[in-house]
Amino acid sequence: MAFDRKDGFYRQAKREGKRSRATYKIEELDSRFRVFKKGQKILELGAAPGGWMEYIAKRVGKSGSVLGLDLQTITDLPSPPCKTLVADILNPETGALIDALVNPPFDGAVSDLAPNLTGIKATDQANSIAILEIALELVKERLANGGFFICKVFQGNELKPFQLQLKSDFAKVTLAKPKASRKTSTEIYLVATGYKKQHLTKVTSNSNKVQ
Ligand SMILES: C[S@@+](CC[C@H](N)C(=O)[O-])C[C@H]1O[C@@H](n2cnc3c(N)ncnc32)[C@H](O)[C@@H]1O
Repeated sequence: MAFDRKDGFYRQAKREGKRSRATYKIEELDSRFRVFKKGQKILELGAAPGGWMEYIAKRVGKSGSVLGLDLQTITDLPSPPCKTLVADILNPETGALIDALVNPPFDGAVSDLAPNLTGIKATDQANSIAILEIALELVKERLANGGFFICKVFQGNELKPFQLQLKSDFAKVTLAKPKASRKTSTEIYLVATGYKKQHLTKVTSNSNKVQ
């Protein structure tokens, strides 16, 4: 079957003036898992061109906030609740930049991060998990107890270990493939709810100091 970039969701997004077809994915995940609520603070990693942010902004309203981070500039979003940050998630200073813009903790975090695709499935999957591991650390340090994390992953050998990692930090982890995600794509979303914040607390081996 030929790859149709301009499929039904693409045309719907054009017709409805959405920034990207990706909007329909978060919309569907939200209608299934009911994650967004008025007044929430949300962090989005890999947010350009801002399709998800537009949707989340409506859901959290002006009393909430949505901080979207990307390598690329995101423009023309309603503020409040939207704020944007041009940054590389792989840069160790990015966490401090986030905190300077929005005071943590966040009620939820979403990641649609997609590294540059090589077309080689195993490489693309490994790159996607590597970037997600960093995203997860950044999120865990800033997520409120009971918070949620939704992230895009590519199916392959490394999905299961990542899913298990999430399961140790969140009460519930579900795999979901929204209808707007192309059937030919190996992308799938992990929806993790009920963050167990106490997992970050650890006692060092040679002292009784709690970090
Ligand atoms: C599929 S797009 C996100 C679409 C977005 N959710 C929307 O609805 O408009 C993936 C984004 O991840 C970003 N990205 C990839 N690697 C990144 C990195 N190291 N740091 C920050 N953003 C990155 C890309 O620039 C790209 O804009």
